[in-house]
Amino acid sequence: MSTDLAVSEVRFEHLRETLGIGVARPRLSWMVSTEAKGWTQIAYEIEARGRDGQPRTTGKVESAESVLVPWPFAPLASRERVSVRVRVWGNNGQASDWSAPAWAEAGLLKADDWVARFVTPDWDEDTSTMQPSPLLRREFDLRTAVQQARLYVTALGLYEAQINGQVVGDQVLSPGWTSYNHRLRYQTFDVTGLLRKGRNAIGAILGDGWYRGRLGFFGGRRNIYGDRLALLAQLEVEYTDGTTETIATDLTWRATRGPILASDIYDGETYDARREPRGWSEPDYDDHDWAGVRLLERDLTTLVAPSGPPVRRIQTLKPVDIIKSPSGRTIVDFGQNIAGWLRLRVQGPPGQTIRLRHAEVLENGEPCYRTLRTAKATDSYTLRGEGVETWEPRFTFHGFRYAEVEGWPGELHSDDLTAVVCHSDMERTGWFECSNPLLNQLHENIVWTMRSNFLDVPTDCPQRDERLGWTGDCEVFSPTATTLYDCAGFLASWLADVAADQGDDGAVPLYVPNIKAGPITPAAVWGDATTVVPWVLYQRFGDAGILEAQFESMRSWVDYVAGRAGDSLLYDKDVPYGDWLDPAAPPDRPGDTRTDATLVATAYFARSAELVAQAARVLGRETEAKRYESLAAGVRDAFAREYVAPSGRVVSDSATAYTLAIQFGLLPTPEQRQRAGARLAQIARDNQYRISSGFVGTAILCDALCSVGEYDTAFRMLTQRACPSWLYPVTMGATTIWERWDSMLPDGSVNPGAMTSFNHYALGSVGDWMYRTIGGLAPAEPGYRRLDLQPHIGGGLTSARARHLTPYGMAECAWKIEGGVVQVEAVIPPNVSARVVLPQSDLAPVEVGSGQYHWSYRAVPPQRHLLTLDSTFSELFADADLWSQVLELAPEMAVLEEITPVSSSTTLRLQLLFQPNAEEMMRSLQAALDKIQGEKNPA
Ligand code: BGC
Repeated sequence: MSTDLAVSEVRFEHLRETLGIGVARPRLSWMVSTEAKGWTQIAYEIEARGRDGQPRTTGKVESAESVLVPWPFAPLASRERVSVRVRVWGNNGQASDWSAPAWAEAGLLKADDWVARFVTPDWDEDTSTMQPSPLLRREFDLRTAVQQARLYVTALGLYEAQINGQVVGDQVLSPGWTSYNHRLRYQTFDVTGLLRKGRNAIGAILGDGWYRGRLGFFGGRRNIYGDRLALLAQLEVEYTDGTTETIATDLTWRATRGPILASDIYDGETYDARREPRGWSEPDYDDHDWAGVRLLERDLTTLVAPSGPPVRRIQTLKPVDIIKSPSGRTIVDFGQNIAGWLRLRVQGPPGQTIRLRHAEVLENGEPCYRTLRTAKATDSYTLRGEGVETWEPRFTFHGFRYAEVEGWPGELHSDDLTAVVCHSDMERTGWFECSNPLLNQLHENIVWTMRSNFLDVPTDCPQRDERLGWTGDCEVFSPTATTLYDCAGFLASWLADVAADQGDDGAVPLYVPNIKAGPITPAAVWGDATTVVPWVLYQRFGDAGILEAQFESMRSWVDYVAGRAGDSLLYDKDVPYGDWLDPAAPPDRPGDTRTDATLVATAYFARSAELVAQAARVLGRETEAKRYESLAAGVRDAFAREYVAPSGRVVSDSATAYTLAIQFGLLPTPEQRQRAGARLAQIARDNQYRISSGFVGTAILCDALCSVGEYDTAFRMLTQRACPSWLYPVTMGATTIWERWDSMLPDGSVNPGAMTSFNHYALGSVGDWMYRTIGGLAPAEPGYRRLDLQPHIGGGLTSARARHLTPYGMAECAWKIEGGVVQVEAVIPPNVSARVVLPQSDLAPVEVGSGQYHWSYRAVPPQRHLLTLDSTFSELFADADLWSQVLELAPEMAVLEEITPVSSSTTLRLQLLFQPNAEEMMRSLQAALDKIQGEKNPA
């Protein structure tokens, strides 16, 4: 039977790069494509072949599973390579052909697979300050032609490996940053093409990086993980005659100090090209004056293969402008705030030094370095002076849009500098667009901020003296992150570090990898990343394995909190941040929030206990499920007793307090919930839809509003442009999400607070809501196995489209409204079903299977009640359309926006009463309302 049914994207674990995987029983996933509607898989067959070409097969397995299917064969041994293909049968009786084969090769799975030992240069150095980067090398002979060769390599510090003068691979900042004392990644490279019969050379450059460079704020510390850089390299060669040879780091290696005179993650890199030993990683180089190496003891059981993608150069940007600042500095503008570095191309005299200093913004036309705090963010290059030289740093990165250039020989042209955007090489999975260009820019800014901060570790910011894996930031942003990119493997690695760095008592460090000296000082909400992030990964990628891997970490955090809370079940300790960066907090006291920090902490305690219970349920751990369910119920009761009035008012009476109470189910009765919802919307209106929450509340504010039916309020907040709001930075030309709503003040000056970055993703956590609510594309079951397609029309938008590459394939939801006719399009991937609720329609929700769908119908506009002078200003302001029409007919009403406070109980009549020409104003407003509403509602 002819069929369009095909299987593709056969994948091992969450990996797109499968050389040197660290899992002996990799779970398998695949995607199916077919035009058939309502397609579901009824069976699959998996076939695997090893190097001997002999097939092993599962036979036909009756199952609908196609995501993270358990490995059906014997576990892989170290170095074992398999090629896997899959075919499927569908509910329409069709069978697919075999997919194209996908392969994976195991890395070194056991510590005793390593014959190499860590080697460090045989010299003493003063590690209280930056040191030149060592070069290490050795030569070797290969007896005959090479069939295949693998380099297994890592370092204490950062490394770049070279073979016969060629850089190995295209990764940068390897081995990345993990909790090195517990987990040190090694990389596997196919280096077959770099070797030849006869004489060969292998070498590596090492840098201080995260291992022994300066890390942390308030000046930071050096040598956090150790004070000696070291290389571990094992080159395994297989000859065409089947014999093998291993070249490994040992005492035969040689070492010298290279051209990188200093390098540091925060401060930048200093390079003197005159000191490059030409040909140092090629054979027949004379290294007689190099030093030897020493062995360095290190527990090799800490070595792990990557579970996510490496950091790479992902994109390059050319300057959009070269500016002379008022004080005469030369500044290059790349038009986009990024994380990465500059590549230069230059010709000039030997010994000339060029300095590149990076900045995110200009203030009064000059680069603003204040936001970098103590990070020098300066690279310098001294020319060799022979022809055209190109250079870029290896062991640093910067967060910048602008660079100040000093010492350039001759005139600087825009072709001379390139900005290199670097981050973990994740696959993009989310796309959003709508009819409001400002919202599209907001979305772009969220994407760029994720790109700037998913550089091996999910960081708070890429520019100042932090760049740390702040747990709370990752937690609030994780739903958005998982929408935009496939970061399952990336975050799984980070979560393994979270678990590794957790205290024996379950206490969670503020940032992971933890670099703080002394005991762990946990913080409420931040520590809850332990429960929230695994749960988000389970929801978005259907990966129950991550819950299994993290269960102990999740549980022990909640036990820790329970211990701290004691019998009261109120978590009133460990609250240094609360609803961090509440816009009402003074610039120098960002933790001074209007929401009671213990309320925030206890709300999260309830949430985390509930997530542990849910995770236990997924994992079939019934006893634990019951235990944590009852703990969660107890905390909810305690919360209600302490913070919720019988009427539904919540202590602090703030947006964050209501948001948490609503979203985390902390209001005992439906009446209290309804009242809390109304109060939350009222707070929004009273603030004229400006943000009044910090980064805890803001992340779920729109969801809380929508869950109590306040869609219009959520849209009004999202489209507000006055500060503080999501769009204010966009109107100020932002290209990334700022740490503070007002990192740049309306007059263009930079916020005086020390906590002021222009590239922090936490406030971009609204991105996920935009996909789910405006685009209408949300997961209804883990892994998007079932979709909830429920777009909402609002905010004056006339169209929106969201696409997401789910584990099952591309899903899409789009709508537009034209002349009162709504058109909705949906794409549902094979093996997935969806519940569709059409916007502005009275059609019943429909259940559909896979396929492409299109609906077109006349919109049923939402019912509005007529406003009069006895309505309140906030009711009038709530109807954006009506308010703008009133302003057109009676511009003098603008004064109403100025009258403060905008009280929820003051009528328009009463507000106008105190205006000099009250009578006239009232008449004019009444006339405007009559005219507009009369037209809107013809009798
Ligand atoms: C970081 C934050 C972090 C916070 C803790 C800051 O310095 O940049 O994003 O969560 O400290 O409150």
